[in-house]
Amino acid sequence: MQEFSAQNLPRHVAIIMDGNGRWAKKRGLPRIMGHRQGVKSVRRTVTRAREIGIKYLTLYAFSQENWQRPQDEVSLLMDLLYDYLEKELDRLLKNDIRLTTIGDIDRLPNRVREKLLDVMEETKDRDAMVLCLALSYGGRQEIVMAAKAIAQGVLRGEVQLDQLDEALFSRFLYTKGMPDPDLIIRTSGEMRLSNFLIFQGAYTELYFTQTLWPDFDEAAFEAALKDYARRERRFGKTSEQLLGS
Ligand code: IPE
Ligand code: IPE
Ligand code: MG
Repeated sequence: MQEFSAQNLPRHVAIIMDGNGRWAKKRGLPRIMGHRQGVKSVRRTVTRAREIGIKYLTLYAFSQENWQRPQDEVSLLMDLLYDYLEKELDRLLKNDIRLTTIGDIDRLPNRVREKLLDVMEETKDRDAMVLCLALSYGGRQEIVMAAKAIAQGVLRGEVQLDQLDEALFSRFLYTKGMPDPDLIIRTSGEMRLSNFLIFQGAYTELYFTQTLWPDFDEAAFEAALKDYARRERRFGKTSEQLLGS
């Protein structure tokens, strides 16, 4: 039985996975234990998203701002990412999932970047779901990067300024070719975007939960999807207009 009707299912879900540090602190554990537990939530969420039939799942795993964290936490996070990619490849292939990334991946340590590119290459023809990892990602940086590339295009005569519109601009973003997120979930009770998909999220439905990321399970995910399914997305129109169309 289909649990979620295709009609009310978000095509693209993006998640700000927050609260790993607090999860560990509550238990008197080092922060990295929270990140480790967080990887389990990633696996659970990817599996469930695929089962439910979500087409794009973007996970905010590491922001540009996160480079400012203590060096040992950053390198442990990079190790965790490497292990995740290494262990996950088989499962991604088996479940027909394509891995992609958004962000300034040139800043990642070489071995992590190479592993990432490997997994992307191996899964490039899979098409049941796209799993997009936001790594070294910053929304403002992404917009500035796009503006620079467009300016260069204009200087070279490859971009006509009068043709520049929202759709063309979007093609210069990391998310080129992906639909805008329908739903952004943020765990741990923080109510901000932290520089995540700020261009693409202009009309995204936001869902905040107190649940810390390591505690985010299938039920928590489904609660978010159910909440989304009840919403009316008006995009500036009136309810009556939507009913009439
Ligand atoms: C989210 O958890 C994971 C990353 C940002 C990499 P945090 O590490 O931000 O956890 P809190 O916010 O300190 O609890
Ligand atoms: C946002 O979480 C980034 C990720 C989840 C990867 P942070 O915990 O870094 O965000 P702030 O600093 O509290 O806004
Ligand atoms: Mg945090």
